[in-house]
Amino acid sequence: MVDQQEPQFNQWYDEHTVADQLIHDAAANEAEQRNELSLRPQFLREYIGQAALKEELNVYISAAKQREEALDHVLLFGPPGLGKTTLAMIIANEMAVHIKTTSGPAIEKPGDLVALLNELEPGDILFIDEIHRLPTNIEEIMYSAMEDYFVDIMVGQGPTARAVHFPLPPFTLIGATTRPGMLSKPLRDRFGIINAMAYYTPEELQEIVVRSSDIFNAPIKSAGAYEVALRSRGTPRIANRLLKRVRDFAQVEGKSAIDKAIVDIALDKLRVDNRGLDETDHKFLGTMIAYYNGGPVGLNTIAANIGEEAETLESMVEPYLLQIGFLQRTPRGRVVTESAYEHLKMPYQREQ
Ligand SMILES: Nc1ncnc2c1ncn2[C@@H]1O[C@H](COP(=O)(O)OP(=O)(O)OP(=O)(O)O)[C@@H](O)[C@H]1O
Ligand SMILES: [Mg+2]
Repeated sequence: MVDQQEPQFNQWYDEHTVADQLIHDAAANEAEQRNELSLRPQFLREYIGQAALKEELNVYISAAKQREEALDHVLLFGPPGLGKTTLAMIIANEMAVHIKTTSGPAIEKPGDLVALLNELEPGDILFIDEIHRLPTNIEEIMYSAMEDYFVDIMVGQGPTARAVHFPLPPFTLIGATTRPGMLSKPLRDRFGIINAMAYYTPEELQEIVVRSSDIFNAPIKSAGAYEVALRSRGTPRIANRLLKRVRDFAQVEGKSAIDKAIVDIALDKLRVDNRGLDETDHKFLGTMIAYYNGGPVGLNTIAANIGEEAETLESMVEPYLLQIGFLQRTPRGRVVTESAYEHLKMPYQREQ
């Protein structure tokens, strides 16, 4: 049964780019989205990992509540699936305010922004995902909204055009981005709380996997949960996704609990290795080794070779490889490290 699925799966893999896999796949269908919702922790105390960030937020949230003020604007950045959206929802729950959710590219006209801001009550949160993709003219309107709670927009055209002044209630903007470097400085400077999301440790991911399997009612042994954690690229969304697949394998095999053996079988099938590297990571490192002797080689060259956008590789593939020490960035380009060669079981012959 499993083997019959293989060709389909390979085809699936071949047809999807990294961006697809990492961004769209997770929320590809409604069922998955509902699933993601049910797995989302609701309060800070249920949010696993990111200890420093949680501690900080706890202070700011308590202080803002005591003063009965809106929380300062928050910017969260980091690779996809680390829990930025989840955290925004949690902040709203903790502050006991409403949250309106949108994304940078969805706000096309000044009127769209005004319509959103108009619905906010004092203290409410406006969450803008992919805030680096906010059109420039909207971004400029955001400045006064964030700083002084008003917007001035032009209404009408030509000689009858006039500026209209909209006062706003005090509100909190939470911006999320996978590409903080693309945010303009004036916008970045208007966030009082700026935080980088870190990759999760295997222990933290193990805890997330155990929590999710409780919600799924799919018992998992601790070694099994740890193995899923090791293969999840430091990313809760991937951990949850792998857990779902592993659960399917365990069910078909008639296992009463998910153990390490079934995790190994399932994840080998899914071609996710024991450091969490997937097809794209292998292609990325493999190309550098096969054609450029492990580098240094420029990112654009690698991107052209493997048919991905340099930007996608930079924000979604490289950060994890850098984090686990498989890749180095040098002024002359990217270099594959000795530990990556070891992991890939390739002879390391580079002259230093
Ligand atoms: N700290 C955490 N504890 C438990 N589960 C978490 C945690 N962080 C994230 N998750 C889980 O991972 C999933 C993905 O998180 P989320 O959607 O918040 O990521 P994101 O950073 O917003 O990703 P993207 O950049 O793609 O929008 C959530 O459904 C949630 O269940
Ligand atoms: Mg998100």
